[in-house]
Amino acid sequence: MTIIMDGIVLRNRILNELQARIKEQGLKPKLVAILVGDDAASKIYVRNKEKYAAVAGIKTDVVRMPADTNTETVIAQIKKLNGDKSVTAILVQLPLPKHIDTNAVINAVDVSKDVDGFTDANIGRMFGSGVDFVMPCTPRGIMALLDEYKINIAGKKAVVIGRSNIVGKPMAQILMAHNATVTVCHSQTPNIAEYTRNADIIIAATGKIKITGDMLKPGAVLIDVGMQRDENGNLHGDCDFASCASVVGYITPTPGGTGPMTIAGLMMNTVDLYMVSVY
Ligand code: GUN
Repeated sequence: MTIIMDGIVLRNRILNELQARIKEQGLKPKLVAILVGDDAASKIYVRNKEKYAAVAGIKTDVVRMPADTNTETVIAQIKKLNGDKSVTAILVQLPLPKHIDTNAVINAVDVSKDVDGFTDANIGRMFGSGVDFVMPCTPRGIMALLDEYKINIAGKKAVVIGRSNIVGKPMAQILMAHNATVTVCHSQTPNIAEYTRNADIIIAATGKIKITGDMLKPGAVLIDVGMQRDENGNLHGDCDFASCASVVGYITPTPGGTGPMTIAGLMMNTVDLYMVSVY
């Protein structure tokens, strides 16, 4: 029987637990999101982050800046937030408009408030010492989901499809740190099925490549991070759900799988950064 990994139930439980902790211990985390421009998907993501932060009892603020804002102005805004003691977590919603230097903006965030874990300093800690780093939100949510369903990672063959800084690269590193044997595939990999057919755990995060059941090993764990809308406006992941679900042992649905878990990851990171800030 295939188990559908329910990200909504786990997200709700995590948010309720955070809310109880924040109330009981009188914690005061505050997350500020910076949204530059009018990207429709980004607006929805930021609205969702506000909504679920409220559920967890986390204060939020959104700084909205017009699409023609220049790099220096965004950085000046970040520096203001870096210096504001009431702000304990800062998130710059990506993608930024093309004329903005994304790398400079990301690295302007104080590493102690880098809730996405995207600064070079944080990434260095993740790949280097492996301590005191913030796990980017989607990988953190996925690790919580794997843990919830008691999926063993050590010694398993994992295939990560996609090499983005947001999901693919950190996910590969984290699975490796948990003793998986990791292969990273991407848009230039010929015959991806050659890799996925041998994999125990597949993290699909491309938004482009379609995964079908014939590409998978019976009983595998399939985590789908893709977000694609079909011609009718319905949301789908990277996998053809019906054919994949008939082969694998565990699968995340889209919507209702990794999307809600990314929110849970963000809120866990926000509270963790607050805890470090008060010591
Ligand atoms: N855009 C898509 N995913 C993310 C994310 O996890 N964090 C931020 N800041 N922007 C994103």
